[in-house]
Formats: sequence, structure tokens, C-alpha cells
Amino acid sequence: MAEATTVERSSYVQSFKKLRIAKLINERPEFRKLRRKNTFWKEVSEAMAVRERIKDLLIRDPSHVVIDACSGKGFLTTLVGLMHPKTKVISVDIDEGADREHLKYLKNVEFINMDIMSEEFEKLVRDAGEKVILTGIHLCRDLSERFIELVNRYDNVKLAVLMPCCEGKFPREKYQFIIDELGVYEGWCCYLKDKFSQDLKVRIKRDKKVISPKNVVITAERES
Ligand SMILES: C[S@@+](CC[C@H](N)C(=O)[O-])C[C@H]1O[C@@H](n2cnc3c(N)ncnc32)[C@H](O)[C@@H]1O
Repeated sequence: MAEATTVERSSYVQSFKKLRIAKLINERPEFRKLRRKNTFWKEVSEAMAVRERIKDLLIRDPSHVVIDACSGKGFLTTLVGLMHPKTKVISVDIDEGADREHLKYLKNVEFINMDIMSEEFEKLVRDAGEKVILTGIHLCRDLSERFIELVNRYDNVKLAVLMPCCEGKFPREKYQFIIDELGVYEGWCCYLKDKFSQDLKVRIKRDKKVISPKNVVITAERES
């Protein structure tokens, strides 16, 4: 009951339900299995939060390439792939065993089995085109730091949206005030925000419309 109330309260869920693709995900057998997961609405809210932050750029210029780092089964990849059919979406994850059959039905989507810590991933980001959008939902510990490292390093990454997950090693003393006031997760997220290069426009927000306690979203924009 509490779960249902939380789901109903999320305006991302409400917005998703109004989309044409919500019907498609509900009805088409290749996507319907995504709905069977009991974490479905949480994933919807997370993916909608990220899509909300990249959609204006994609609507203006669909030629951006979206790289969804540590994509899991690829719900964000699916959402962006369906809503932006002219945009190429590359879904990257180290785990090749997960069921990603649904991605094969999306002509503009490619799954690549890869470690984001590797040289190959670095090359993938660097060579993906002049305009890249990097996304990462719930990247734990050094995966978030690696994400930021690549955003800082490659000028072709025009926009990055990161929702961090479990905290790694960081100088807690420096963020003690935030930790005391808001908790370790917020301290970790502020540390990550500070790791983005100074020439990027970085925003951080706890997005309460995301149904997950790990709901801080960091957005980094590179002026063209
Ligand atoms: C917490 S899950 C998040 C999945 C997805 N982004 C989501 O929100 O549903 C973390 C994902 O990171 C992937 N992963 C872990 N280490 C990785 C690495 N070094 N390179 C690429 N993917 C990795 C895991 O396989 C897993 O799918």
C-alpha cells in the first residue's frame, strides 16, 4: 500500500503513463517483460529523471550520441531509444548475462559488453562523434568517479547526467557539515560534484520525484 502511494505520488510515473510508449511497453511482448520486475516504477522514475534533463538537447539536435554507462538491463536506454528514434543510443555494461533481448528491437540502439574502466570504453567515448551525452544511473563507488573522469577529459561530451549510488572513499572531514546535516550519500554526491572540471556548468539536485533514496542527480554541461 505504502509502495503504491509512493508510486502514485511520483509525477515522473504520472508523466510516463501519459506517454505513447507506456502503452507500447505494456502491450508489445518484447517490452512487456520489463514491467514484470517489481522495481519497474522505481526504474521508470529514475529513467524519466535523466530523460527530463537530456530531452531539450535531443529535441533540438537528435544527432547527439547517447552513451548509457553501466546500463543494466537498459531501461533508460529503451526509454531514450523509443522516444528519440533519430538518436543513436549505446548501452554499455560489463555484465553480458542479463536479458537485454528487448534492445534488439530498437534499430537506433546498440548494446556493447564492456568495462567502463577499460581503455576501450575511453576510446568508445572519444570516438562516438562530436556530440555525446553520457548518462549513468546508480553507478557505485569508483564507477561514478570514472564517469566524471571521462566527462572532464573529452570535449565531445556535451552533457552528462549522473545519479550516483553507494559511496566510495572520499575525504569525509571536508564534507562533514553536509554529512551531519543530510547524510553520507549527500556528502559523497557533493564530493563527486566537486570533481567535475571547473569549465563545466554543474548542477546538483535531490530529485524527490525519483522513487529511490539514492535520488541525487548531477548534471554537467559543456558550453559549445
Ligand atoms: C546498480 S546497477 C545499475 C543499472 C542501471 N543503470 C539501472 O539503473 O537500472 C549497476 C550496473 O553497473 C554494471 N557494472 C558494474 N561494474 C561495471 C563496469 N566496470 N563497467 C561496466 N558496467 C559495470 C553492473 O553490471 C550493473 O548492471
